[in-house]
Amino acid sequence: MSIVEAEFLQRENPRTGTFKAPPFLPRIGHKSLGLERLGGERYLSRQFMQAEWEHIWTKTWQLVARIDDFDEPGAFHVHELGKESFIFVKGEDNEIRGFYNVCQHRGNRLCSVESGILDQFTCPFHGWQWHTDGSLKHVAAPEFFRQFDEGVPAAELALPPVKVDIWGGWLFFNMDLNACPLREYLGEIGTHLETYEFEQWQLIDYQTFEWDGNWKHAVDAFNESYHFAALHPDMVQFGEGHDIPIELWGIHSRMLNWNRTVSEVVEDRETLTELRQHMMGTRLQQDGAQHDCAAKDVHLAEIKRRRAMEDDTYLPFAQMNDEQLVHQYHYTFFPNTTFTQTPEGGAVFRYRPHASDPGKCYYDFFIVARLAPDASPPKRPLHRVHRHLPGDNYSEVFEGTFEPVFANVLAQDGSNMPTMQAGVASDSFKGMILSEQEVRLRHFHKTVDDFIAGRTDTHNLPSWDHYMDE
Ligand code: FES
Ligand SMILES: [Fe+2]
Repeated sequence: MSIVEAEFLQRENPRTGTFKAPPFLPRIGHKSLGLERLGGERYLSRQFMQAEWEHIWTKTWQLVARIDDFDEPGAFHVHELGKESFIFVKGEDNEIRGFYNVCQHRGNRLCSVESGILDQFTCPFHGWQWHTDGSLKHVAAPEFFRQFDEGVPAAELALPPVKVDIWGGWLFFNMDLNACPLREYLGEIGTHLETYEFEQWQLIDYQTFEWDGNWKHAVDAFNESYHFAALHPDMVQFGEGHDIPIELWGIHSRMLNWNRTVSEVVEDRETLTELRQHMMGTRLQQDGAQHDCAAKDVHLAEIKRRRAMEDDTYLPFAQMNDEQLVHQYHYTFFPNTTFTQTPEGGAVFRYRPHASDPGKCYYDFFIVARLAPDASPPKRPLHRVHRHLPGDNYSEVFEGTFEPVFANVLAQDGSNMPTMQAGVASDSFKGMILSEQEVRLRHFHKTVDDFIAGRTDTHNLPSWDHYMDE
């Protein structure tokens, strides 16, 4: 048991006896997933990439955008995934639908703009048009087509649809029209996050990083905190990522990162240094709180303060367990979406494969917040794609929307992508040795293998407690 844990144990809601999101403490053990090394081939091989496409990307639920982006009929959003591009658009009937972004004449990309509002989609090549519900609107000079002598086959020429669904104010999609419903896919663990009331959150920023590493290196990097002490020395000054609780829930998983404490790997855990003040203190003072305690204990005092004000705040403290009030609840939904947040804000990560190169990926970074009811709505972010440059600290990426200390942390993660991609390709590499603190990686890669082998699909998901100790 870690030091933080010994100081802080709470499992039941004093009012109801249960929580929508069960606390991590006391810890639940998981069944052994083995000790084998994880080979490098899966990050490098085009065959493996193709198998992922056939069994994972075309079969699983994936996050698209906030539904607030679709504020009126005709509002659309283009989303790229691997070799495919999709159009998501609100129809005249206010229904949001999704289609492959492919002209049915000669296969041109129909829409090249990322988002906007349109009455119809017009292919720039020969001018064929589609309505916002995907039905065919216009074929230019149909008399030139002998195939259409009997009339234009509108149903055959409609844009091919994908399945869409909404959860927590987010639009999701699935290329598999027969996939299970989204809510069923998110499972028991989806219920936990409903305590945050995501449908009332706002999008503060949205940026994409193009990284020179396979998409699974990015998933791996954000699914463990074992690397904090070495790669992110700042992080251990105001949070704890050492020996953290981890839980495996069916095909998904979660972990807890403690905020507003000092890691037990740091010698002086008492002094409120300038960095600690800045990262733990500023916000508290803004809120009118002053905690006169050791730096490592700020979280405990803040939990008490927040619990005492649960009836007087717009934040949903009353339905949250004590851990949630202050700490980082970090959830990853298979295959490529992570939600990590406190009651007032957080980030959503989405990892996307490159169209053809297993050595590249896109890491999408959404900043979201629960703003006060009287706050003015944030301005719509300007989405850009950033290349990682050596020595970059991502200070140019965020324009006041993200704490620079955290932007630098993100750049440190980005710096590992090309070096991981290169290292696992070495003839000398014998495979990864994964610790218990990296068990989410073992579980994630096992899930990848289970989908590829056909042992798992959306109609044959492992139960939520499949990996838990009895
Ligand atoms: S390719 Fe689109 S109209 Fe011809
Ligand atoms: Fe990191």
